[in-house]
Amino acid sequence: MSVTGVIGFVGAGNMAAAMIRGLLSERVVEPDQLWATNRSNDVRLQGLRERYGVSVTRSKRELVDASSVLILAVKPRDMGDVLAELAGLVSGRLVISVAAGIPLRTLESALGDAVVIRAMPNTSAAVQESATALAAGASVTDAHLAMAETIFRAVGDVITVDEELLDVVTGLSGSGPAYVYRLIEAMIHAGTELGLEAPLARRLAIQTLVGAARMLEESSEDPGELRRRVTSPGGTTMAGLRALEDRGFASAIREAIGRAAMRARELADEFGG
Ligand SMILES: NC(=O)c1ccc[n+]([C@@H]2O[C@H](COP(=O)([O-])OP(=O)(O)OC[C@H]3O[C@@H](n4cnc5c(N)ncnc54)[C@H](OP(=O)(O)O)[C@@H]3O)[C@@H](O)[C@H]2O)c1
Repeated sequence: MSVTGVIGFVGAGNMAAAMIRGLLSERVVEPDQLWATNRSNDVRLQGLRERYGVSVTRSKRELVDASSVLILAVKPRDMGDVLAELAGLVSGRLVISVAAGIPLRTLESALGDAVVIRAMPNTSAAVQESATALAAGASVTDAHLAMAETIFRAVGDVITVDEELLDVVTGLSGSGPAYVYRLIEAMIHAGTELGLEAPLARRLAIQTLVGAARMLEESSEDPGELRRRVTSPGGTTMAGLRALEDRGFASAIREAIGRAAMRARELADEFGG
């Protein structure tokens, strides 16, 4: 599905670049439907213009005037400045924030009668495999939500949740790619310690992850059932899984997601007030 109108990115860093790449390669928009601004990094802004043909400006007013949808892709600590600069400019527009932690009530009260949606994508947006959750503000209609879904579907899968669940989503899928990188890193390290060449260990570990993920994606079974099926009593997999559980694998993951969610709540307290 394509989008009519113009999407303006406030913040032109990693997330904005990943989304621009996805939107263009999925033909959701044409280059002349994309604008971007940042704070001071001219090289980055010009790079986006040259690479993707998007329009760039240092003037937020010019960007807002050109755009029907704004995507706020700045760090939580910079959101206060951005909201102050946009106040009074974005009336009636759809504004989507991808910043971790900053609550809808903060965005809505700063932006007057703008229509606000929060989104929590992840870094795999860069390869169009993000897992993104959306949470809708008070004045969001089905048409606004459909627009946001179309935008984020260009960079992966999209679900909608109540805002109170976004911190857990942040802990699980927002921060999740890093946990998976850590798992792969540990698998490569173990493989090389036990005699494999590092590039081979890397290749085997990555393909193992991709294959397991695809098995889950293509089957309706839950992961526990697939795990049981490949775990014969007294076999190699059972020996490996037992070592993981002896060292608290599941509780470490539970703790990681819980602490990341707690950090999202702290960011809301620090920067969303
Ligand atoms: N990266 C991820 O995997 C990921 C995942 C989920 C959510 N997010 C969220 O996405 C947001 C952006 O992350 P990122 O990784 O893209 O950060 P980033 O690469 O550091 O980019 C941040 C951008 O914000 C711009 N900026 C800062 N203050 C500004 C201002 N007052 N006006 C206009 N632009 C301003 C910066 O401009 P300058 O370069 O000129 O300073 C930069 O272009 C964060 O809130 C993060 O929580 C990121």
